[in-house]
Amino acid sequence: MTDDVLTPTSTCTRLAGRRAVVVGGARGIGAGIVRRLHAEGARVHVLDRLVAEGTAVATEVGGAFHEVDLLDPGATTRAVEAAVTGLGGLDVLVNSAGILRFGALLELDPRDWAEIQQVNTVGTLTTMRAAARHLIAGGVGGAMVNIASMAAKHGGANEGAYAASKAAVVALTRVAALEWGAHGIRVNALCPGYVLTEMGAATRTEADVARWSALSPLGRLGEPGDVAALVAFLASDDGSYLTGQAINVTGGMIMH
Ligand SMILES: NC(=O)c1ccc[n+]([C@@H]2O[C@H](COP(=O)([O-])OP(=O)(O)OC[C@H]3O[C@@H](n4cnc5c(N)ncnc54)[C@H](O)[C@@H]3O)[C@@H](O)[C@H]2O)c1
Repeated sequence: MTDDVLTPTSTCTRLAGRRAVVVGGARGIGAGIVRRLHAEGARVHVLDRLVAEGTAVATEVGGAFHEVDLLDPGATTRAVEAAVTGLGGLDVLVNSAGILRFGALLELDPRDWAEIQQVNTVGTLTTMRAAARHLIAGGVGGAMVNIASMAAKHGGANEGAYAASKAAVVALTRVAALEWGAHGIRVNALCPGYVLTEMGAATRTEADVARWSALSPLGRLGEPGDVAALVAFLASDDGSYLTGQAINVTGGMIMH
């Protein structure tokens, strides 16, 4: 795949005039999403707990950064409100923030379980609710994209808490699509496979990368741009008849 495919040219204006909030946009997949939405014409605000990285990404795209810890639902709601106010409204919400911790089911620490559900699932629900109130009041619909994971469908040994949190994100995506579809709000999830970001980097070996790459018929792992391209599609009118879906971005590692 060439860089041209991953980095759209400035002639892409599919999202011109759209106002987007990207939660978890400070680095990794989220930062790729921020850049792609901006490149396609959207104005973007970034929410994250990483102040320096988040500020840098937001500044790069002419947007604004809002510090937030998703462990605090009240602060999370206020941060979404601040972003929507700064943007003068809302069209697109992307939830890319997430944490991954490994642990076998028999040894799972209940505090790890709780924190993973709180960030990945409750955090996602909190931003969705805050955004939905604006989108419903606005009366012209909008789009939400939640970054779940292949783990939601496939499991993953030692990933019980993470897989359960991402399966819950897919379930919430479907319920939200049903509840908010009448307001023209489309809600979809993406299920990436392996993307070489900071997530999981501490335990990742070269042998892991080779083994995982071989799981894809395409013979490679994902890039943030692979996920971001689909987010831009779903956020745009090109995705106007898609809602309640959990779409794999796995290079064919899983096909259901
Ligand atoms: N990297 C992969 O292989 C992979 C695969 C499938 C799904 N995903 C999902 O994609 C999303 C992005 O992951 P990534 O690979 O870019 O990881 P990453 O760790 O690089 O980025 C995650 C972002 O979420 C933010 N975040 C985490 N906890 C937060 C909190 N409590 N409050 C505010 N912000 C918080 C981090 O600061 C970071 O900017 C995650 O939801 C992850 O579960 C990643």
